[in-house]
Amino acid sequence: MPRYEFDRAPSRLDTGSTKWSRYPADVLPMWIADMDFSVAPEIVSALQRRLEHPVFGYAIARTELREEIVRDLAERFGWTIRPDDIVFLPGVEPGFNMALKSRLKPGDKVLIQTPIYRPILDAPAHWELEALTVPMVRAEAGYRPDRGALAAGLAQARAFLLCNPHNPTGHVYSREDLAFIAAECEARDVLIVSDEIHCDLVFAGREHIPIASLAPAVADRTITLMSASKTYNIPGLKTSFAVITNPALRSAFAGARSGMVDSVNLFGLEATLAAYRDAGAWRNALLGYLQSNRDHLEQEIERLIPGIRYHPPEASFLAWLDCSALGIAGSPQSFFLRQAKVGLYAGEVFGAEYGAFVRLNFGCTRAVLSDAIERMAGALAGRAQP
Ligand SMILES: Cc1ncc(COP(=O)(O)O)c(C=O)c1O
Repeated sequence: MPRYEFDRAPSRLDTGSTKWSRYPADVLPMWIADMDFSVAPEIVSALQRRLEHPVFGYAIARTELREEIVRDLAERFGWTIRPDDIVFLPGVEPGFNMALKSRLKPGDKVLIQTPIYRPILDAPAHWELEALTVPMVRAEAGYRPDRGALAAGLAQARAFLLCNPHNPTGHVYSREDLAFIAAECEARDVLIVSDEIHCDLVFAGREHIPIASLAPAVADRTITLMSASKTYNIPGLKTSFAVITNPALRSAFAGARSGMVDSVNLFGLEATLAAYRDAGAWRNALLGYLQSNRDHLEQEIERLIPGIRYHPPEASFLAWLDCSALGIAGSPQSFFLRQAKVGLYAGEVFGAEYGAFVRLNFGCTRAVLSDAIERMAGALAGRAQP
């Protein structure tokens, strides 16, 4: 089995990286959700091979790519789809926007669970729809959907924008909760738009279940959005896909694309094919590394900043940190940026009521992660004894 080196990451300064351009070079950027690791060598080789042909015209997804995705979904999630159910897109964000545009009319309500990835929160307003928000509940073991609040919300909504695995809490929905959501949506005739972009990075002990895989009747009312971008660290290639098994829903979705998206990035398609076909071993190795980072973060927070409340995520590389007990005056994001030179995402980005939280991206080397926690702990200690 090939070995991959996640303890070394290339410098991204001056590479036109969004993450590494926002702050001065002395700040550790741990905000936007991409990872610092080199892409799988299998993907780099596939792109190099494609570069040898010097024409980069408009591209379509080759049959082989559709078949690889069909195979992957069947093997890993037991979900059977057909190649033609897949609609390629330049991103999951455009995908959930098109999904809402395709089926709803101004004034309709869209249910969303907070805290939530900001573009999901903002999407309804783009189409003059109303966002109905219900908070996740925090139990001893972490965040969970609130079934009572969900049922009440779904009674008013025309669509549910689900995010599973959930960003920023890292919650992976159980089969029982998904079945509950699906049954409520069926009873109320609610469209399900399911953002599953983080589905390939689920840690040991949890299982990803595409909501549409529960039953054909659920798939009939669901638009699922996926991508190789988060898992294989290729989000700059702007390629994702929707799976829509219901032909009427697919055709309405195609209508919503029109005038905005025709074809998809040539290199993104090549990289996506190489990811699903060739880079499974790299993905498994990455998952192990991320899981150790997740556990390391938990231990280090306990050791150095026990005032932070942290529920280790069940998937992906984002940690949702409750800083409310730290006694920071004002925004913890600004405090850690100024005093610790660590660039986190501010909690209020994920919902107005989460100002006491920050989101930390641990898709980085263990050394950078340790440095960040030490800097944060140092800043808090320095504040206590000026
Ligand atoms: C839940 C979720 N959906 C969508 C996206 C963005 O996807 P894309 O870059 O494909 O639009 C992200 C990126 O962080 C995300 O976390």
